Amino acid sequence: MDKLTVAVCGATGAVGREMLETLAQRDFPATEVIPFASARSAGKTVKFKDQELTVRELKEDSFEGVDIAIFSAGGATSTKFSPFAAHAGCVVVDNSAAWRMDDRCPLVVPEVNPEDLAWHNGIIANPNCSTIQMLVALKPIYDTVGIRRIVVSTYQAVSGTGQKGINELEKQVRDLFNQRDIEHKAYPYQIAFNCLPHIDIFLDNDYTKEEMKMVNETRKMFHDDKIGVSATCVRVPVFFGHGESVNIETEKKMTAKECRVLLSQAPGVRVIDNPRELLYPMPIMCAGQDDTMVGRIREDESIENGLNMWICADNIRKGAALNAVQIAEELLRRDLVRVPDRNVFMK
Ligand code: A2P
Repeated sequence: MDKLTVAVCGATGAVGREMLETLAQRDFPATEVIPFASARSAGKTVKFKDQELTVRELKEDSFEGVDIAIFSAGGATSTKFSPFAAHAGCVVVDNSAAWRMDDRCPLVVPEVNPEDLAWHNGIIANPNCSTIQMLVALKPIYDTVGIRRIVVSTYQAVSGTGQKGINELEKQVRDLFNQRDIEHKAYPYQIAFNCLPHIDIFLDNDYTKEEMKMVNETRKMFHDDKIGVSATCVRVPVFFGHGESVNIETEKKMTAKECRVLLSQAPGVRVIDNPRELLYPMPIMCAGQDDTMVGRIREDESIENGLNMWICADNIRKGAALNAVQIAEELLRRDLVRVPDRNVFMK
């Protein structure tokens, strides 16, 4: 393509800024990058390579001449504007939860199910950060020995709540050390020096929406309605990088050693697993890194075919911005930067 215009919608947010950084670092072949945000930010500037780009207000008619729009501006903004993008012939890669379970939209992690991009209708969904890193690590195991059931507990960083989560943890830590009263707005309770077993809203079944995202998104991307997924999602006072304790029951036996060998060859995965040398992944190692890191691989001695592992990744990067940019790269590679029917989301 001689012209490739990319819009970054939500460019002033925590993920949006990382998207600009990732596009630059990976030398994404855009001929123009346009940052969009709300009216509040119009006229401000954001950094892209060695330039300062002026932020524009996102509007329904913003997408004329834009080839790819990467959204990270929240579900409501995405629900409102993505159909206009697709109608204008612009392919959307959306980081919110708005389109993930919509049958018209593929939900894609390039290391897991890139083939689903082939049936896109103009909007492609980026999965939840916790699902992405879990499936990058589990897909090779699923393909090799099958997985019957996954039990996962997450330890999720405050940056998953956006800039307001980062600001809240930072301010609470400062206030506590200065013996001032703390305020909480982003979370229902103090997050500094605390853990909240509550991410996103509670649903009728007493799970949170975040937990059910892990269940439903796993089934959609593995094309497996039968796989059991049981999740507990916890917010922890970490700025960047989610950790996950994952237990799986496989169809056939896989030893811990076989698992280490398999994952050390898997795309996007780095195995860090040497207990004797005290080597294991940690969120602080992952910040700013592309790889999903896996360690503490052990056979589950309580069942016949089971494995335990600890998975960490930068939630803003592989969990959001990088995965979205990789989807855009895959669209280009597969010559899929076009909208087959511009009216699918206008009906
Ligand atoms: P703005 O900075 O103008 O509010 P975060 O997840 O870090 O909170 O970032 C959210 C991003 O989504 C920001 O860039 C924010 O822009 C953007 N955003 C929020 N509401 C809208 C909207 N109605 N239209 C366009 N962008 C929006």
